[in-house]
Amino acid sequence: MTRFQTTLLLFLLTFLPVFPGEGMWLPLLVDRYNLEEMQKKGFRLSAEDIYSVNRPSMKDAVVRIGGCTGVVVSDQGLVLTNHHCAYRSIQSHSSVDNDYLTDGFWAMTTDEELPNPGLTVTFTVRMEDVTDRVLAVIDEGMDENERQAAIDAISRSIAEEAMEGTRYDADVNAFYFGSEYYLFVYEVFDDVRLVGAPPSSIGKFGGDTDNWMWPRHTGDFAFFRIYADSDNKPAGYSEENVPYSPPVSLPVSAGGVREGDFTMVYGFPGSTRQYLTSQAVEIITGLTNPHNIRLRDERLAIMGREMEKSDTVRIKYASKFAGVSNAWKRWQGENRGLARLDATGRKKALEDKFAAWVEDDAGRRERYGDLLPSFDSLYSRLEYYTLPMEYGREALYAIESVRFVNDFIRLTDAYLMNPEEYDADFLMVLLETATENFFRDYHRPIDRQVFGKMLEMYMDNIDEEFHPSFFEKVIDDFDSDFSLFASHVYNSSFFVSREGVDELLENYAADMAELIEDDILVRIVRDIRSLYIDRVTVAWHEVNDQLVPRYRLFVEGLRMMEPGRAFYPDANRTLRVAYGQVKGYSPRDAVYYEKYTTLSGVIDKNRSGISDYVIPQKLKELYDEGDFGSGSVDGEMRVGFIASNHTTGGNSGSPVINGDGQLIGINFDRVWEGTMSDIMFDPEKCRNISVDINYILFITERFAGAGHLLEEMTILQ
Ligand code: ARG
Ligand code: GLU
Repeated sequence: MTRFQTTLLLFLLTFLPVFPGEGMWLPLLVDRYNLEEMQKKGFRLSAEDIYSVNRPSMKDAVVRIGGCTGVVVSDQGLVLTNHHCAYRSIQSHSSVDNDYLTDGFWAMTTDEELPNPGLTVTFTVRMEDVTDRVLAVIDEGMDENERQAAIDAISRSIAEEAMEGTRYDADVNAFYFGSEYYLFVYEVFDDVRLVGAPPSSIGKFGGDTDNWMWPRHTGDFAFFRIYADSDNKPAGYSEENVPYSPPVSLPVSAGGVREGDFTMVYGFPGSTRQYLTSQAVEIITGLTNPHNIRLRDERLAIMGREMEKSDTVRIKYASKFAGVSNAWKRWQGENRGLARLDATGRKKALEDKFAAWVEDDAGRRERYGDLLPSFDSLYSRLEYYTLPMEYGREALYAIESVRFVNDFIRLTDAYLMNPEEYDADFLMVLLETATENFFRDYHRPIDRQVFGKMLEMYMDNIDEEFHPSFFEKVIDDFDSDFSLFASHVYNSSFFVSREGVDELLENYAADMAELIEDDILVRIVRDIRSLYIDRVTVAWHEVNDQLVPRYRLFVEGLRMMEPGRAFYPDANRTLRVAYGQVKGYSPRDAVYYEKYTTLSGVIDKNRSGISDYVIPQKLKELYDEGDFGSGSVDGEMRVGFIASNHTTGGNSGSPVINGDGQLIGINFDRVWEGTMSDIMFDPEKCRNISVDINYILFITERFAGAGHLLEEMTILQ
């Protein structure tokens, strides 16, 4: 291809309408933007069935649970979500003797269901476009800070108005960088109990080996139940509470999926960045991702080594390890996907097209003329602070004790600054709880090694200008040996053992303040904090604050430039609908992946001898018996399937719904080759991964013997 042809091709690529499957849409606007296309693809219901304020609709069955999504599947408040979403709860009820992570947990009666303090379930009562009311308070003369302050104030009063006289929560959220605003009214339940979870050998089958990958064979599901008071209203945990009776629960379709079937994912996607400019994509692919991946390589290696040595440590760090490894692997897929798509090139082509469109008209020149050049200069300033900023989060504050000390002194500082107004006993309670929580899952040898390694990598990769002053001491007194320094710190600080902190707390009031300030970790944390405030965070935010209004203008311009195209807003933890179809894909040259997996694939992976593929004997027996009951589709037990829905983190546990509004699976992941979809969606490669509802029913009934849960549900063939 000649240069001209390449440019032309890029130009055409960026000119295409929204890709099929792309987009996370507001349920409220489905009628306007999506319904026609959805119906063409096989959706047989109306927009009112998806979202309505006048009558029960699907949205009443979709809940936020922790950072995930879940779906109500029975009239007794039974909720399905992912095993990995329930992981922390399962872990918190587990010990070496009662290891629910390993063995699974099934409550055979409601009495056995386990409460999870802190875990809530949130329903969306309604949403409303409040753009006009919000934007009425701003005027052209305001700078960005004044604008934001005015918007915060009106947003608060709109939310308060919505909550008045109710027990609801409400939020006003910005869309398109503050061009539009929507009000969301929520009902939050805080008595949520664990009902059932398969053993990790099923719920986390494939572990980190298979995470973010297809073909996948994970039974990634768990059940919770919502409890309410005797009036069916939210209430804190109480033995008196009863199972919640919801307005809607989704029926289940056990008929099995076929190629091309319509699918819809209804949930709470966390965050995407579809509108980033080319410079931002360059920073992510060239700096942020590679460095963060390397930092996590080291952390994972340290954790993994120690977890292998002891079961206690393995349980304590199971959830932490999974969390660290999850983003680590996603970033690698994202970088490859963005490179394959030539995301930077495409973004540049779009920017060139935008520039030409602006140039074409005097009014546009006036409004958007400075826009693209200003991205250049802002991003080159931002780039300067990028690594210090990332290493702050991914190296310094990745050290557990550093985070703990940081939280601890934040509490004591608040007290010391205002001793009269602060209740000292209350402070003690806060400190004791924080201490208790921190040490429950803490293993000092891991943290000490992470401390040494993270500081060493900081030293090697970050400009001297951003070095905390204690580095000098390490250079002079420890010959730049950070692991030696780590031993010194972990031998002398109060904060790296439960006993140490208890000793501090006993001396409380007398001379705690002095002891704290003398502690070596406290001095290190204060050093880091002042460095970050003085030289990194403020500067970084200052640049970022200038980017927001630029993006607002950019997206406004893009929408004018392509008036025929529907633009979806970036994900922001609000309720969204994505739709697509069941579809295989080609991950790479000469390879094609089918759309669903079966139990035979589980057995086959098990034969490899890889530890992530160990399965319970009972599952093998069930497979050998070959009787999958009503869950069998074409004589097989379906395990997982893929479809072209646009999803992201937060969509875990989301119901995957067919054209008739029935539940066919639970979303839990994306394919490796499509993980760049947070930044750029590719219809050829982007697939969401779901656990088939048939596998959920099969494991629950046949493997766990919890068939009574199936009786609560409405199951259609
Ligand atoms: N990748 C999925 C998500 O982003 C699943 C993560 C949990 N599983 C794991 N093996 N770490 O949350
Ligand atoms: N596993 C993710 C979650 O916890 C969903 C996968 C994705 O990022 O798409 O939300």
